Amino acid sequence: MRFSGSGLASHARGRSLWRLATWGLAALALAAAPQAAAPQAAAAQAVVDARGPQPAPHAPGRPYAARGLPDRIVLVAGADPAREMAVSWRTDVNQPKAELDLVEMANAPNFGLRVRRVGGTSTRVLSENGEAIHHRARLSGLKPATTYGYRVKGADGWSEWHQFRTAAASRAPFRFLYFGDTQNSILSIGALAWRRALLQAGDPAFIVHAGDLVASREELVHDDEWGEWAAAGGWALAALPQIAAAGNHEYVDVTLPDGRESRRLGAHWALTLPFPGNGAPGVETTTGVIDWQGVRFIILDGTSAIDLGTLEVQTRWLEAELSRPGADWTVVVMHQPVFTCARPDDTPRIGEAWRPLFERYRVDLVLQGHDHCYHRLTDPRGRAAGSKARAQGGAQGPVYLISVTGSKMYGLSQRALAQADRVAEDTRLFQIVDVSPGRMAVRAHLATGELYDAFDLVRGRDGRNRLVEPVRDLPAMRRCTGATHDLNADSLNADSLPCTVRRR
Ligand SMILES: [Fe+2]
Repeated sequence: MRFSGSGLASHARGRSLWRLATWGLAALALAAAPQAAAPQAAAAQAVVDARGPQPAPHAPGRPYAARGLPDRIVLVAGADPAREMAVSWRTDVNQPKAELDLVEMANAPNFGLRVRRVGGTSTRVLSENGEAIHHRARLSGLKPATTYGYRVKGADGWSEWHQFRTAAASRAPFRFLYFGDTQNSILSIGALAWRRALLQAGDPAFIVHAGDLVASREELVHDDEWGEWAAAGGWALAALPQIAAAGNHEYVDVTLPDGRESRRLGAHWALTLPFPGNGAPGVETTTGVIDWQGVRFIILDGTSAIDLGTLEVQTRWLEAELSRPGADWTVVVMHQPVFTCARPDDTPRIGEAWRPLFERYRVDLVLQGHDHCYHRLTDPRGRAAGSKARAQGGAQGPVYLISVTGSKMYGLSQRALAQADRVAEDTRLFQIVDVSPGRMAVRAHLATGELYDAFDLVRGRDGRNRLVEPVRDLPAMRRCTGATHDLNADSLNADSLPCTVRRR
């Protein structure tokens, strides 16, 4: 464990006192929030405690309490998204049972006549917004490349119908969105990039989140943060499958019985994002693999690897997934970057364990977050070496991307400035990725929509990628003025506003 200092211990004591004071002795009977998925049996019996560590001010008007109609409806990709999906949603306590209506969508308005009722599991949850029931249902036996409709039930009625499309069983082209950390000002600011992305992408197949969906800070109501996250995406979260990696901010600090400080996954993660269950043994709640039309997405959990002792088991599982045939492209989704853009040091344990595998098995793209800047690294030796190698026809190894969606920003390190092909500081972005036979085209856009970075990975006859930069007139690199190591109050960003970055 890398935790030190006494702050966390006193913090935990404060949390206990607050709970006794605010929730009464009944709170003592509550089960601690598990890291594992919500219980499969005994629906609505055990109570998951999803409260943050101490009292914090609610969102104005308390908009995030559960009601008699379902909310927080989230569609999650299954392991075989041509045939499997999962849905999570929330109701008040008057709807103890998971009930979902599923239908193969038709264009006549009475499509609901063919509905099939699907059950699921339900978990009673205590949050700062009171008690609620979080439900989930797994949809299996779906037909590939088919549009389905579904709705979910609350005590006061059904949700509206949502519709989604399963993946094709073949290697057809598709488009997806990739978002870096949303985390801060999730609804007020983070949602701007999401919504611009959804309009601009037109018809993305799904959304990839590279961790830190929320902040889980002690001064914030955690349930409000997840309420904001659901409100940011609205119906799009119910209509597009989500593929998400957990960030360090999805974890909360805890003190173990022996006094050591540790982390556990916040309760909202498993309640909101039911993973396929095919991840690294013991880490199935935050790791998994999803094959989408010839592209293998491998989700890793860097926080668990670094802080909770699962690096080896994830590494073994990663190698097994990388060596398994059946995919033309491989995309790794994880939070902590192998090569950082803001922190002084890279992530050594992850770099040592996973980078050699990424290279040996020719991972195409590594989608990351954590550093709150934009960073496209194509050659660890640096930008000049990468450019020279490309000019000589050299093959492209994994491309490492970092991006950020929410409001928190970190300043670029001097090393990143020389190492990466393209960077941005104090800038919110979203990414659109198009996959077609032999080509993966990545476009990073500013939150207002303008193109900021563009590259294509083109598969050669030798089976290796070549990197092509098809757009010559990209905007100037967005930096804050002043020396990177000496930002001060006079530093301005690319929009001539005071630079908001923090130093790492
Ligand atoms: Fe973050």
